[in-house]
Amino acid sequence: MEISHAKQVINIDEKLTERINELLSHYPADKKKSALLPVLHEVQDAHDNWLSIELQDKVAEILEIKPVEVYEVVTFYTMYNQKPIGKYMFEFCRTSCCCLRGAEDLMDYTCDKLGIKEGETTPDGQFTVVGVECLGACGYAPMLQIGDYYREHLTKEKVDTLIEECKAGKVDLHKQDHYTE
Ligand code: FES
Repeated sequence: MEISHAKQVINIDEKLTERINELLSHYPADKKKSALLPVLHEVQDAHDNWLSIELQDKVAEILEIKPVEVYEVVTFYTMYNQKPIGKYMFEFCRTSCCCLRGAEDLMDYTCDKLGIKEGETTPDGQFTVVGVECLGACGYAPMLQIGDYYREHLTKEKVDTLIEECKAGKVDLHKQDHYTE
């Protein structure tokens, strides 16, 4: 289990509490653990997209479960981040279809362009590049996920454009959509 020693300000404010309570309302009162995955997403979104051990402990407290029950979920799914990441995380699919269509070259190209290695974040805290397993858009390979977006049929030129869009603040990370062009 990777443990980050970075400090994280924990802020379970009124808005986040309301959202958590709304999620909990879908489950029996004695089955709060059932809401663990969506609650982790909400809490992560509200905390710069990562979950420190302290924050995971807080989630366990809210759901009245053992901390290890949160740790085992956070360490299993790659969508939960255990250390600080960049504002824009490029998650390149590197499973078969995307690999065959050049995903690894594109990821290397992106890393070189940003001056980082896979798994690293740029010094300005803006970009992180990671490789992930199949994101279910195999027919649009090669592709990446950024926030809730899918960017598909990727080329180096499209990666260049996406980086520029991010730098210009034109990318809405929570607009659920996918773009093939
Ligand atoms: S192999 Fe890349 S999305 Fe499935």
